Amino acid sequence: MNLSMFNIFFFLLLLISPLDLSLARHCVVEGPLQVHIINKLPPNGPPLKLHCAAKDTDLGEYSPAPDEDFNWSFCELIGFRTLYYCHFWWYSKVQMFDVYSDPYTCIKGQTAFNFLEYCKWEVRENGFFLEQYNETEKAYHMNLLYDWS
Ligand SMILES: *[C@@H]1O[C@H](CO)[C@@H](O)[C@H](O)[C@H]1NC(C)=O
Ligand SMILES: *[C@@H]1O[C@H](CO)[C@@H](O)[C@H](O)[C@H]1NC(C)=O
Repeated sequence: MNLSMFNIFFFLLLLISPLDLSLARHCVVEGPLQVHIINKLPPNGPPLKLHCAAKDTDLGEYSPAPDEDFNWSFCELIGFRTLYYCHFWWYSKVQMFDVYSDPYTCIKGQTAFNFLEYCKWEVRENGFFLEQYNETEKAYHMNLLYDWS
């Protein structure tokens, strides 16, 4: 299943969910969670354009300057249903993936536990890096998760 298929599947799951999320909105973690997307592309290239959204929140199109930290905060819902995804455009390249879908690993399917209250992404020339904890080294690293398509 590719990512867009996964999103459609996830949205369908939300739509048919018997739980009314607007009535059941609570923070189940201490303090709000944050997602950071930092533009680490070379400053002499064309601007990065991104568009992030969740099911009921559209963060709009934005073009972060080089080294700018585009970030937002949110409360996790009971049952961990929050899912933010972003589209990215740079040169003729396009990429799209979930930037947040899990409070413990930032995105579902990752095994590296995140002890921070934020998920930090860097957009680089060679792809998209997520800050992840390495259990062996007891340290955080920026790991390449997605290439530019
Ligand atoms: C998060 O974004 C705000 C603007 O919305 C900015 O002022 C702030 O510096 C950013 N946070 C970090 C850690 O850069
Ligand atoms: C964690 O660090 C060790 C030692 O540098 C390395 O061998 C291992 O591949 C890393 N694990 C992950 C999941 O990145």
